[in-house]
Amino acid sequence: MASATPWTILITGATGKQGSAVIDALLAENNHNHDNNKPLNIIAVTRDTASHSAQALARRPNVSVIAGDLADPDAIFDQATLNGNAVWGVFGVQVNSAEEEKQGKALVTASVARGVRHFVYASGDRGGPEKSELDPTFVKNFAAKFSIEKHLQKMTAASPQAMTYSILRPVTFFENMTADIHGKGFARMWEQMGPNKALQLVSTKDIGYVAAQAFTHPGKYRNVAMTLVGDELTQSEAEVIFQEVVGSSMPMAPCPIGSAVKFFKKDTVGDMFRWFEENGYGGDVVQCRKEFPGLMDYRTWLVEQSPFVQRPSK
Ligand SMILES: NC(=O)c1ccc[n+]([C@@H]2O[C@H](COP(=O)([O-])OP(=O)(O)OC[C@H]3O[C@@H](n4cnc5c(N)ncnc54)[C@H](OP(=O)(O)O)[C@@H]3O)[C@@H](O)[C@H]2O)c1
Repeated sequence: MASATPWTILITGATGKQGSAVIDALLAENNHNHDNNKPLNIIAVTRDTASHSAQALARRPNVSVIAGDLADPDAIFDQATLNGNAVWGVFGVQVNSAEEEKQGKALVTASVARGVRHFVYASGDRGGPEKSELDPTFVKNFAAKFSIEKHLQKMTAASPQAMTYSILRPVTFFENMTADIHGKGFARMWEQMGPNKALQLVSTKDIGYVAAQAFTHPGKYRNVAMTLVGDELTQSEAEVIFQEVVGSSMPMAPCPIGSAVKFFKKDTVGDMFRWFEENGYGGDVVQCRKEFPGLMDYRTWLVEQSPFVQRPSK
């Protein structure tokens, strides 16, 4: 019989791509496939509880939405534990900014102080499992994630509650491919990587699935780091699949726009594409799909998830 004590998981970035996918996957798993029998209680963090996406989250079962800013994780925990229930798990994600490292480390530190048992960190791949452990890389937001991972590993080892962690290291998201100017710019920069340099990609829906697996099976995914990759393609290979599925060419910004974005956003986009070309992700698609057979490849993502294909509304 289910115990009355809820199994509370705090999700940061809950209105964003990865956080919302974690919530979807946790709700899909709920009550039929996890290592304990407590009722699921998801606490979704947002800076704006009145936003459309926060309101939509609040209408979902087992989800409560709280206001919080990653600049102050203690205040987030104060809000989350107002009803007296401890937070068991935390999903940590930050956006790329000068604050990323500080916010990421502070969330880990507060989680240890508040007795959290399992922490899932949304990081990013830096060249496969071995290199990711050793090399922060010259890309600022990759290096921030490297430092947050090290902090998480150190704090976990020293935590009185023996907190455990799962580090997710996704490669580039398929979701960067949109029909707007951002997606068109991304497609052009991918194309500018040339015909011989493939890019590794993964769906945020699958990142959410893996995060939910880490929460529901914390023993299996205890203190591991996983590169998550669903496909590996050059832009011209992707173009062929896009045309087959969608029936038109991948929307793409003119060449100078791709170059200008990389020039004017050198520290973020520019350095990242340089790293893709000079170094590159090190995920193993076959191995990854062995562990998680449902991981989408590009064709599947286009058909099932992308904004380029009309699907009947649910
Ligand atoms: N795009 C890629 O291809 C890719 C690949 C690998 C890794 N990544 C990494 O993914 C991360 C971004 O994740 P995402 O794409 O899932 O995010 P996203 O869709 O951009 O959403 C950002 C989320 O963060 C929340 N947020 C932003 N600032 C906050 C703050 N100060 N306090 C509290 N919440 C805050 C937002 O919530 P509210 O607005 O509701 O407050 C929103 O839910 C970045 O670190 C990036 O490097 C991206």
